Amino acid sequence: MAEMEMVAEFPSPAGAARWAEVMARFAARLGAQGRRVVLVTSGGTKVPLEARPVRFLDNFSSGRRGATSAEAFLAAGYGVLFLYRARSSFPFAHRFPPQTWLSALRPSGPAHSGLLSLEAEENALPGFTAALRSYQEAAAAGTFMAVEFTTLADYLHLLHAAAQALNPLGSTAMFYLAAAVSDFYVPVSEMPEHKIQSSGGLLQITMKMVPKMLSPLVKDWAPKAFIISFKLETDPSIVINRARNALEIYQHQVVVANILESRQSCVVIVTKDSETKLLLSEEEVGKGIEIEEKIVDNLQSRHTAFICEQN
Ligand code: PMT
Repeated sequence: MAEMEMVAEFPSPAGAARWAEVMARFAARLGAQGRRVVLVTSGGTKVPLEARPVRFLDNFSSGRRGATSAEAFLAAGYGVLFLYRARSSFPFAHRFPPQTWLSALRPSGPAHSGLLSLEAEENALPGFTAALRSYQEAAAAGTFMAVEFTTLADYLHLLHAAAQALNPLGSTAMFYLAAAVSDFYVPVSEMPEHKIQSSGGLLQITMKMVPKMLSPLVKDWAPKAFIISFKLETDPSIVINRARNALEIYQHQVVVANILESRQSCVVIVTKDSETKLLLSEEEVGKGIEIEEKIVDNLQSRHTAFICEQN
């Protein structure tokens, strides 16, 4: 089945048409300013097992890679469309979960003219003020837009809409596909309507393969864009071959290969004719440097070269 028909087979999320318009306006505005725009996908997809779902198939992804990369792309001057799993890591906020600020922030007096005053010990929330400033600067400049997904179906529809929005930008658009997207799903027509009963004994579920969206993305949805997929494995001995395999099949520009346990300190940037290992040293960790800064720095240069080649 053609991939587009496949997307159409999944239930479309509420508001999908409105999101498509908003994303298209965002991309067109930033493109008109001469800014590069990146779609960052982030977090895992949730796959329902029942039509009125009680149970789901989900995965480990925290969204940290996507959120930290979005910050680095903004710092590099990109417009960032952030397509992320609801309640996963969010740029500028993910280092400050509620338990860090609930005890650190105190009301510092009665509200005046509708303004609430809060205070904190200077060292209680390191980086908090800088993160607020960076987020608010991006919001004021209109360079950041976040769009939420929860299920695989939401993701597929919104990815397609985002690709349509970025396609007119040609080679200045980048796709940074860090989300951990399910490879398996249960078609709506084959789902039990009600909660699966444990009284039925052992549970056996047959799931269908989700076609790789990289294929229509590279061929049809945004054929001129700079496209980066990720390859996650738990077995280090196969990850580079799997990354090479993906480049061969989909003919896109870059695969970022990573291993589950070491993903925050080591990745390999794989292209048709190169392999570049990026490592984070203990010293860099101590200084608060994150591997995503290195990934984005590397990819930004490759994107520049790609744009020059296309022109
Ligand atoms: O979120 P964190 O906890 O920080 O972890 C980051 C990460 C490990 C999730 C991230 O670095 C990463 O590797 N993301 C991709 C994980 C993954 O799903 O790998 P994969 O080998 O299954 O998929 C490869 C590529 O195919 C992905 O870029 C994906 O977007 C794409 N894909 C997957 C399924 C599908 N149906 N269509 C696709 O196009």
